Amino acid sequence: MARSKIALIGAGNIGGTLAHYAALKDLGEVVLFDIKAGVPEGKALDLAQVGPVDGFNGKVTGTTDYQDIAGADVVIVTAGVPRKPGMSRDDLVDTNLKVMRAVGDGIKTHAPDAFVICITNPLDVMVWALQKMSGLPTNKVCGMAGVLDSARFRTFLADEFGVSREDVSAFVLGGHGDTMVPLVRYSTVAGIPIPDLIKMGWTTQERIDALVERTRFGGGEIVKQLGTSAFYAPAASAIQMAEAYLKDEKRVLPCAAYLTGQYGVDNYYVGVPAVIGADGIERVVEVSFEKAEQDMFNHSVEAVKELTAAAIKIDPSLG
Ligand code: APR
Repeated sequence: MARSKIALIGAGNIGGTLAHYAALKDLGEVVLFDIKAGVPEGKALDLAQVGPVDGFNGKVTGTTDYQDIAGADVVIVTAGVPRKPGMSRDDLVDTNLKVMRAVGDGIKTHAPDAFVICITNPLDVMVWALQKMSGLPTNKVCGMAGVLDSARFRTFLADEFGVSREDVSAFVLGGHGDTMVPLVRYSTVAGIPIPDLIKMGWTTQERIDALVERTRFGGGEIVKQLGTSAFYAPAASAIQMAEAYLKDEKRVLPCAAYLTGQYGVDNYYVGVPAVIGADGIERVVEVSFEKAEQDMFNHSVEAVKELTAAAIKIDPSLG
């Protein structure tokens, strides 16, 4: 059977890391695309030479020609500019919207059957624009944010409790911005919800509140230190989603999915738990909220709607 084909649009920090993960996991043939000639070709050559050492045989190639993504099964988009210290994700909307136009055209022409995962920020608006610009079905276009935000929360919780990160599960919903909603009630250690762990004396409400806040600004904390966006964990998170699609795993993962009435939201992309399998986003899982959670979620959705309106102002054809 032919190998799957994974096209990575953007061969920067996240793109290169995605290629490395995809190759190591033997997910298929990898094509790195970028507008900066030399970068995708050079990174691809370097990565292909990891093959003999780490034992993978899938081809890794680099290109500046969209024709080379033809027939891709999965397309992961990181093209655009990342944040610099002091910037919010929303400051990128103008520049990255133009990039989504070019990427959308490329996907529409050369990889219309792909499952598309967008990572470019501001995520909820970029994935919304990319779906419109590519014209692909909404179940085949989604955004990566929730797996990353949950991974950040899980890391902080595991450190707090001194337990394995693998035994901590966490839900983070809403937009991928400072208004995101880490859902404490649905976050557990080996199935024990955090509110119970507070009662058991493992931690306090105040300490959990501080970790929720740290999660909300988890990306910014790294930008401040590094001078640019995080890339290892974002890449690992998107690869988990790609693998769920390619292997029809039916994983339940939080991701930016197109909502058609779920959670009372219509025609926007917002972070929610979803089942990812061979049909892409197969199902949105609707959990029930308590009043305070609903308020936080609504606040987050409002932020997504405001930014979407700003995007339509920049590019009225999206309206
Ligand atoms: N088509 C293809 N590639 C493009 C385009 C375009 N129109 N415009 C820019 N690029 C490329 C750049 O040449 C660069 O190689 O996108 C790449 C982005 O890489 P980095 O600057 O290293 O950014 P990265 O850290 O990978 O983040 C990419 O993901 O998390 C988000 O906020 C982040 O929006 C940013 C994106």
